Amino acid sequence: MENVQVKDKTFSIFLTEEQIKARVQEMATKINKDLAGKRPLFMAVLNGSFIFAADLIRQIDIPCDITFVRMASYIGTQSTGRVKELIGLNEVIEGRTVVVLEDIIDTGLTMRELVSILKAKHPAEIRIASLVVKPDSLKVELDINYHCFDIPNKFIVGYGLDYDGEGRNLPAIYAVV
Ligand code: IMP
Ligand code: MG
Repeated sequence: MENVQVKDKTFSIFLTEEQIKARVQEMATKINKDLAGKRPLFMAVLNGSFIFAADLIRQIDIPCDITFVRMASYIGTQSTGRVKELIGLNEVIEGRTVVVLEDIIDTGLTMRELVSILKAKHPAEIRIASLVVKPDSLKVELDINYHCFDIPNKFIVGYGLDYDGEGRNLPAIYAVV
């Protein structure tokens, strides 16, 4: 499938299933080596990272745990504007090596907020693993330990990523034309 229609937009193939699989495997190999003996806690950020997390975790061959969280936006009651809240974390992360799994880092604001919430819970270490990074739109400094693809500033769907709620089921990644 070269082109797909999602809602009102046409997308064309950008990263194939084979390309994604190869890069996810490389990331897993690095993590297996780097975090051996640390029993990392993988923290997949829903919804977007569910397919990436499922594929990555099956290539992890060191003892580990996995949990699923969500960053929910709401409008603050004060004049602080948009605030994000971490939902679904039931594990104690104090003293642990946490690997945050994200689908995409765009401005980096969501990840910065998540990292600051997690830091307050005193993990031993936080590592960031993102399938995709858009370096040209990063607005904050982030130490991204692992990523599979750097892409230009274009909108993508598929492999978990959505356009207005649709397109997550596409097995490859497509970019808007
Ligand atoms: P950030 O806070 O700007 O880094 O935004 C991160 C979130 O924006 C991601 O978790 C996605 O939900 C969404 N996002 C950013 N770029 C894209 C894209 O190209 N396709 C789909 N979702 C995107
Ligand atoms: Mg996301």
